[in-house]
Amino acid sequence: MMLHIPGVLSREQVAAMRARLDASDWVDGRATVGAQGAQVKQNRQLAETSPLALELGRTVLEALAGNALFFAAALPLRTIPPMFNSYAGGEHYGAHVDGALRRVAGSGQWVRTDVSSTLFLSDPDDYDGGELIVTDAYGEHEVKLPAGDLILYPSTSIHRVEPVTRGARVCSFFWTQSMVRDDMRRGMLLELDQNIQSLRARLGDCAELVGLTGHYHNLLRQWSEV
Ligand code: NI
Repeated sequence: MMLHIPGVLSREQVAAMRARLDASDWVDGRATVGAQGAQVKQNRQLAETSPLALELGRTVLEALAGNALFFAAALPLRTIPPMFNSYAGGEHYGAHVDGALRRVAGSGQWVRTDVSSTLFLSDPDDYDGGELIVTDAYGEHEVKLPAGDLILYPSTSIHRVEPVTRGARVCSFFWTQSMVRDDMRRGMLLELDQNIQSLRARLGDCAELVGLTGHYHNLLRQWSEV
């Protein structure tokens, strides 16, 4: 499932982050990928363990912790500290799949990458190109969102970032290990959850909604690994 989550960060939060990021030192993005990724990746990142990356990453995680839609869609067990990247002057990232397992820098803890997230910190008008293209069974999906918005997609998908030919595309990106490993099951749970919420808003509580809510939790009980 691909899901657009609007307004994860406010305009003020984005502006404050960008002021810090634009004045910071970036390193070669190939520092954090395997052999296949290194051949196709051309961008810059904040060093994973730099104090600024850790501080801004905490701000992103705090925003996610208060975001009900992110929780319902990702069913997060653990999320790696968010990282930050920048593409400009033709930089791009060719077709690749994100590595299945990542070690959290500093802690040594392994995280299985079930859900990939890109949080846009540049507005679409500020750069040309830079679309995130995600491929799934239904074809290619082009994503370019307002600053502060997030796209969530299954880490199993092949994806790429098109060359940025004007301006700069600055984003935060990170991976989440979900309590529900399978993307289709996560999608079904999200759909059920959203329909229950919209029915509850329309009808108020009733016996059928109690039953459906129970069904949601019983499916989650069957499918979750914690
Ligand atoms: Ni990727």
